[in-house]
Amino acid sequence: MSDISDLTALESELAAAIGQAADLDALEDLRVRALGKKGRVTELLKGLGRMTPEERQEMGPRLNGLKGRIADEIAARKAALEDAALEARLQGERIDLTLPAPDRPAGSIHPVSQVMDELAEIFADMGFAIAEGPDIEDDFHNFTALNIPPEHPARQMHDTFYLEAPDGAAPKLLRTHTSPVQIRTMMTQPPPLRIIAPGRTYRSDSDATHTPMFHQVEGLVIDETTHMGHLKGTLEAFVKAFFEKDDVAMRFRPSYFPFTEPSAELDIRCSFAGGRVTIGEGDRWLEILGCGMVHPNVLTACNLDPEVYQGFAWGCGIDRLAMLKYGMTDLRAFFDSDLRWLRHYGFSAFDVPGLAGGLSS
Ligand code: DAH
Repeated sequence: MSDISDLTALESELAAAIGQAADLDALEDLRVRALGKKGRVTELLKGLGRMTPEERQEMGPRLNGLKGRIADEIAARKAALEDAALEARLQGERIDLTLPAPDRPAGSIHPVSQVMDELAEIFADMGFAIAEGPDIEDDFHNFTALNIPPEHPARQMHDTFYLEAPDGAAPKLLRTHTSPVQIRTMMTQPPPLRIIAPGRTYRSDSDATHTPMFHQVEGLVIDETTHMGHLKGTLEAFVKAFFEKDDVAMRFRPSYFPFTEPSAELDIRCSFAGGRVTIGEGDRWLEILGCGMVHPNVLTACNLDPEVYQGFAWGCGIDRLAMLKYGMTDLRAFFDSDLRWLRHYGFSAFDVPGLAGGLSS
């Protein structure tokens, strides 16, 4: 079968089959049957060897031309089939981004974590760093260095959890406040210092506003020229930023803490009228933190010269701040891990606090 009309018929038969190949497998099948080792075109090419030189001169280019065109057509069909397959896949996998996201179970950020992030944001903006200390403390850092020597009555007010100690050793304790982080910071870093230390604290106490584990944030500034005015300005700026209100009525009320002199407590105006907490105005004063100028004895315990350095400090309950800002009434629910509570009061991971545009908006 080497006559020209046969070749033309073969070419159009193959071309038609290639054009109709429905998928890549069918096309590959066709390729093998035409151009494979025993394919029809290959067999014809093998026949060249048996021809006379004249025949070969004529048929050689024809057969090679045929082979080339068939190969081209297969390649073109292959590209078309691949394009169509990709197109079909893209259509099938299309997602309409304007539709609401599917309802997937999502975790939430606990209000305590959210408030800690808010505190970090506010104080970072004022140049404070975050400091940390251990939950398991010793007597020196939790009490003695903070000017609370043994037998000091303030020790009784702390309802301390003591850990069992081997015979004769001084027992460790769960820190009753974040103030020991002040000591650790002053003993390890040279002034000037500006830190906040958020973290867990422990006292043996439990009712609607007390849990055995709770959270505090400590603040400490040490420098050579600090005074009560800096303390006041810093805490006023904090309260306004935290409650996102420019006109929060505040008062600094004289108080006593062993580690500060003078000491004060900061009260803010609020109202509980109609079962709602309103911050900044109203008929009640609410105590939100303790503060004061760092006591010279504390500086001395940390090997700082009180003739050169002074500073101010404050300590504040984080859970209480969260309750006031976000309107929870029972502190114990914070630590119950009740999913309904967490879904209601939790924050989306996208609610990253930032000062630009309002802390919680
Ligand atoms: N540590 C105190 C407490 O837990 C709070 C406190 C008051 C911390 C005054 C301070 C401060 O740094 O200056 O009740």
